[in-house]
Amino acid sequence: MKFFVDTADVAAIRELNDLGMVDGVTTNPSLILKSGRDIVEVTKEICDMVSGPVSAEVVASEAKDMIAEGLRLAQIAPNIAIKVPLTWDGLTACKALASEGHKVNVTLCFSSAQALLAAKAGASFISPFIGRLDDIHLDGLELIEDIRIIYDNYDFRTEILAASIRSVNHVIDCAKIGADVVTAPPAIIKAMASHVLTDKGLEQFNKDWAKTGQKIL
Ligand code: E4P
Repeated sequence: MKFFVDTADVAAIRELNDLGMVDGVTTNPSLILKSGRDIVEVTKEICDMVSGPVSAEVVASEAKDMIAEGLRLAQIAPNIAIKVPLTWDGLTACKALASEGHKVNVTLCFSSAQALLAAKAGASFISPFIGRLDDIHLDGLELIEDIRIIYDNYDFRTEILAASIRSVNHVIDCAKIGADVVTAPPAIIKAMASHVLTDKGLEQFNKDWAKTGQKIL
């Protein structure tokens, strides 16, 4: 399973990238706002650091404007994946950009019907938002399962990029289902290292080691 980091925080990406945990990055307008940076400048910095795909999102609502924005974003670096919303215009832009050889990430997917259309339109990635479905008491993981079945039935090459990840359990459940990629905030990727029994075990080892009076160095 590939790990993408869902942030435009360069320092956070660097920390995970240095550990080999980053196969790609996803950003969106809200994450750019949070970074306080210029979209082109911060995206370039991320693309220079990470070798995998870096999603940068268009903001126009009409297909022709999305295509123009997408082409501008694609100029930032060769590893840009152009992110378009799952609207009819977004699908139109996806088809046009994918036909020109660009990687397209179709975002804001909330149904398997939408995911099927994105695959037909040539998306490299489909981004179903698990957490936002859970927020309205629908089952985000069930959507990932359904898309996996549909894509496998027809051998679609579009990668399932599970997004809106809110917990470590989301990551693990997506891995079990067979999502190709999970994009998670840095805090969740780091939280995957934690376990209460690890902490408890370490505390005991440290106490016992102190009692030995020994030193390793
Ligand atoms: C994915 O590409 C999105 O940027 C992100 O996962 C959205 O997550 P949120 O629902 O926590 O904002």
